[in-house]
Amino acid sequence: MSTMFRFTSLLIYASVVVAGLDSQPVDSSSLGSRVATAWYAGWHVTDHPLSAVSWSKYTILNYAFALTTPDPSVISVVDSDQILLPQFVAAAHKHNVQASLSIGGWTGSRWFSANVGSAPNRTAFVKSVAALVKKYKLDGIDFDWEYPGIQGIGCNLVNSSDTANFLLFLQELRTTVGSKLTISAATDVTPFVDSSGAQSADVSEFGKVLDYIIMMNYDIKSTPATGAGPNAPLDDSCAPVGSQHGSATSGVSAWTKAGMPSNQIVLGVPAYGRSYRVAESAAFSNGASPPLASYPTYDLSNKPSGDRWNGEGGLDVCGVYQDPGGTYAFRNLVDAGFLNTDGSVQSGISYRYDNCSETPFVYDPKTNILVTFDNVQSFAAKGSYIKSAGLKGFAVWEAAGDLNNLLVNAILNGTVNGTSRTIKESPQPSSTTSSSSSAAHIYPWNSLHTLSTTLEVLMLFSLFCRSIPF
Ligand SMILES: *[C@@H]1O[C@H](CO)[C@@H](O)[C@H](O)[C@H]1NC(C)=O
Ligand SMILES: *[C@@H]1O[C@H](CO)[C@@H](O)[C@H](O)[C@H]1NC(C)=O
Ligand SMILES: *[C@@H]1O[C@H](CO)[C@@H](O)[C@H](O)[C@H]1NC(C)=O
Ligand SMILES: *[C@@H]1O[C@H](CO)[C@@H](O)[C@H](O)[C@H]1NC(C)=O
Ligand SMILES: *[C@@H]1O[C@H](CO)[C@@H](O)[C@H](O)[C@H]1NC(C)=O
Repeated sequence: MSTMFRFTSLLIYASVVVAGLDSQPVDSSSLGSRVATAWYAGWHVTDHPLSAVSWSKYTILNYAFALTTPDPSVISVVDSDQILLPQFVAAAHKHNVQASLSIGGWTGSRWFSANVGSAPNRTAFVKSVAALVKKYKLDGIDFDWEYPGIQGIGCNLVNSSDTANFLLFLQELRTTVGSKLTISAATDVTPFVDSSGAQSADVSEFGKVLDYIIMMNYDIKSTPATGAGPNAPLDDSCAPVGSQHGSATSGVSAWTKAGMPSNQIVLGVPAYGRSYRVAESAAFSNGASPPLASYPTYDLSNKPSGDRWNGEGGLDVCGVYQDPGGTYAFRNLVDAGFLNTDGSVQSGISYRYDNCSETPFVYDPKTNILVTFDNVQSFAAKGSYIKSAGLKGFAVWEAAGDLNNLLVNAILNGTVNGTSRTIKESPQPSSTTSSSSSAAHIYPWNSLHTLSTTLEVLMLFSLFCRSIPF
C-alpha cells in the first residue's frame, strides 16, 4: 500500500509542479481597478513581521482587528495594536499600498448591534470611526460584523433591525467621510438578512455606500451526517444535495440577485484548510487504497487540533470553552508533514483535487487526518472565476498563511490572465454558515505555550475566527 501512496504522490508532485507557480515576482499593477487584498492579523506579527509582507502583491491591506465596545463612542484598539497599527500604515504607504483597518471579526462583533441601534448611537459610532481614520491615517475601514441580524460567536447583541440600522449607519458614515475613504464590509456567502431573518431581497442601497463587500467564502459548513467537505468550494452545484452549504458561485449569484453589482464583490479566499479525523476505511473509495473518497464520514469526538497557531483551546470572549480550531495555515502544512515548500505533496500523503468544488484534499493515513484546503491550482481557478464573473478582486484570510507567495501569485495570475469560465446558475445555499450555529463552535486559539512576549499576550485579545460548527 505504501508503494501505492508513493506512486500517487509522485503523480501529484508532477502535476502540482506543472500547474504551479514558482515564487517569481508578480505584481498587482496589471489589476486595473480591481482589488487585491488580504487581512494582516496583528497577533501573527512574530511569524509574519511587516518586513515579510509581500506588499507588491496587494492594492490594499486590512489590519485585523479593532473591536467594538458597548459604548459607540469607543472602538477598542488594544495596546499591542496601538503600537503595530501605525507601523503597518507607514509600511503600506511606503509601498504605495492602501492601509485599511478592519473592525469586528469573530470575537469583536459583540456590540455592533447597539452601536448602530439608534440615531444618537450611529452618530457617535460614525464619529469614532472618523476619529480612527484621522488618528491612524487610514485609507479604508472594513466592517467585519459577524453577522447583522444573526448570532455569531454566541454572546453578540442581535436585533432584527440590525441590517436596516447598519445601512443607516453606513449612509451617515459615507456622508461624513466623503468618497475618498474605502469602505468595505466582510460578509457571509448569503446576503444580509432582513427583519424577518430571511435573506434580504434588495441590498442595492449597500452598494451605493460601500466600495465593495468581501464575501467570505470559507468555513463552509460540514456535518458528520453529510461528511467532510471543502472549506472553500468554488462551486457546489455539483455537490451532493445535502452538502450544498454555499460556494463562491452560489454566493455571488445570491448577492447579485439581491442587487449587489458583481463588480463590487471581492471574493474572500482562505490561505488555510480545515481538518477532520477520518478512518482509513472511510478515507478511500476502494477500501484502503487511493483515490480518496469525497465527503467521507469523520469522527466529531476526536477532532484534530490543527497547526500550532490554534493553540490548545480555552475560554472565548463569551466565557465558553472552545477546542483548538483544527485549521492549518497553508504554510504550516509543510511542518505538519502534508506539503513540501513548493506546495507539492509530501511522500506518504494521499491527495485528491475535487473537480466539483475545485479544491484539494490531503490525507495522512498515519494520523487519520484529512485536510480540505486551497492550493495553487484552486487559487488559480478562483482567480479565473473572478475574472470571468467580473468580480472586484480577491481578499485572502490571512496574509501570514501563504507560503513563498504561491497562493497570491496564483490568484493574481488567474485574475489577470485566467482562461474564461462558463458562469452557471447556482442553487441557493441550503443554509447560511451562521444560521447553522450549534454548540459546536470551533475556535482557533493562539498557542498559549508559544506566547513569549507581552505583545503576544496582549494580542490574545484580538483573537479571531470566522469558523462555524463542524
Ligand atoms: C445605544 O448605546 C448605549 C450605550 O452608550 C446603549 O446602552 C443602548 O442600548 C444603545 N441603544 C440601542 C438602541 O441599542
Ligand atoms: C432594536 O432596534 C430597534 C431599531 O433600531 C430599537 O428601537 C430597539 O430598541 C432595539 N432593541 C433592542 C433590544 O436593543
Ligand atoms: C469530475 O470528474 C468526473 C470523472 O472524471 C466526471 O465524471 C465529472 O463529470 C466531473 N465533474 C465536474 C463537475 O467536472
Ligand atoms: C500575466 O501573464 C503575463 C504573460 O505570461 C505575465 O508576464 C504576467 O506576470 C501575468 N500576470 C500576473 C498578474 O501574473
Ligand atoms: C497564468 O495563467 C495562465 C492562464 O490560466 C496560464 O496559462 C499560465 O500558465 C499561468 N502562469 C503561471 C506562471 O502559472
